[in-house]
Amino acid sequence: KMPLAPALSCPTVPLANGLKIPILGLGTSHSGGYCHDAVVYALTECGIRHIDTAKRYGCEEKLAKDIRESGIPRSDLWLTNKLWPLDYGYNAAKKAYLDSCTRVGVEYFDLYLMHWPGALQPGCSNREMRAETWRALEELYKEGVCRAIGVSNFLIHHLEQLKEDCSVVPHVNQVEYHPFQQPTDLIEYCRKEGIVFEGYSPLAKGEVLNDPTVLQIAQKYKRTPAQICIRWSIQNGIITIPKSTKKTRVQENCQVFGFQLEEADMAALGRLHDGRHVTWDPADVE
Ligand SMILES: NC(=O)c1ccc[n+]([C@@H]2O[C@H](COP(=O)([O-])OP(=O)(O)OC[C@H]3O[C@@H](n4cnc5c(N)ncnc54)[C@H](OP(=O)(O)O)[C@@H]3O)[C@@H](O)[C@H]2O)c1
Repeated sequence: KMPLAPALSCPTVPLANGLKIPILGLGTSHSGGYCHDAVVYALTECGIRHIDTAKRYGCEEKLAKDIRESGIPRSDLWLTNKLWPLDYGYNAAKKAYLDSCTRVGVEYFDLYLMHWPGALQPGCSNREMRAETWRALEELYKEGVCRAIGVSNFLIHHLEQLKEDCSVVPHVNQVEYHPFQQPTDLIEYCRKEGIVFEGYSPLAKGEVLNDPTVLQIAQKYKRTPAQICIRWSIQNGIITIPKSTKKTRVQENCQVFGFQLEEADMAALGRLHDGRHVTWDPADVE
């Protein structure tokens, strides 16, 4: 068996309950496909210890195999999974959690998120469905079956309603975040409420990599555009989970700790916001 690379010396972000989530993780979404080799490589050669997945991505069994093959002890990993809206509702949510554990071959997840603020069940308002589902997650958390719980794609109004309806404040809100999409009001709201903001699609699925400002900064630091975007997120203190199916890019996306972007370059990237979404936009979800 090949010797393991040491874990990345990767900073962590503290959650309200004291757990520490590695600021850099590996995405595994279905768009673009799942690559066994890339995931094993990230774990064994790049020191990645944080993996982001979801039932929706359809790769839980593959991920189970890759984690096993990596030989990394479960306790050294941070695993995030997500509950899909078809499984919303008190009983369905609890069952979905346990089924996901079985498929990934683990006894618990470090973080379990409600994937989307909209419900797909008829005859029930989104708000009611979110609250009922969240109560199931609160119980999984209080029983210690799950180490932290959170939401994804929730906007301020969704979070405000959840606060009125429920008791545990989400530990994390995972939202689209890259230079073109910087939801500053939401980030500020989360900070005030003690909700850790986590960014997804840090490369805007590749769209941001040809931006002239990003290219220029990449040249200045002799880094790649992807490294600049990931570094920018990390320097802003925002958890980031780039995904690649290619080993060389997985490696590249991990080389983001040996350098620092200057204030002026951070600001230039901060000015690239144009509001575009490359994934989905929850703005119209009641
Ligand atoms: N909660 C949610 O609703 C939600 C939504 C979207 C995503 N996510 C999570 O966030 C993760 C990341 O987001 P994402 O997969 O949407 O997009 P992303 O990480 O922004 O971009 C991935 C795309 O960029 C390419 N890429 C990766 N590294 C590269 C590099 N160094 N140079 C050039 N191209 C590169 C990949 O292609 P190759 O594979 O060909 O390298 C892929 O097409 C997902 O995998 C998922 O875990 C969550």
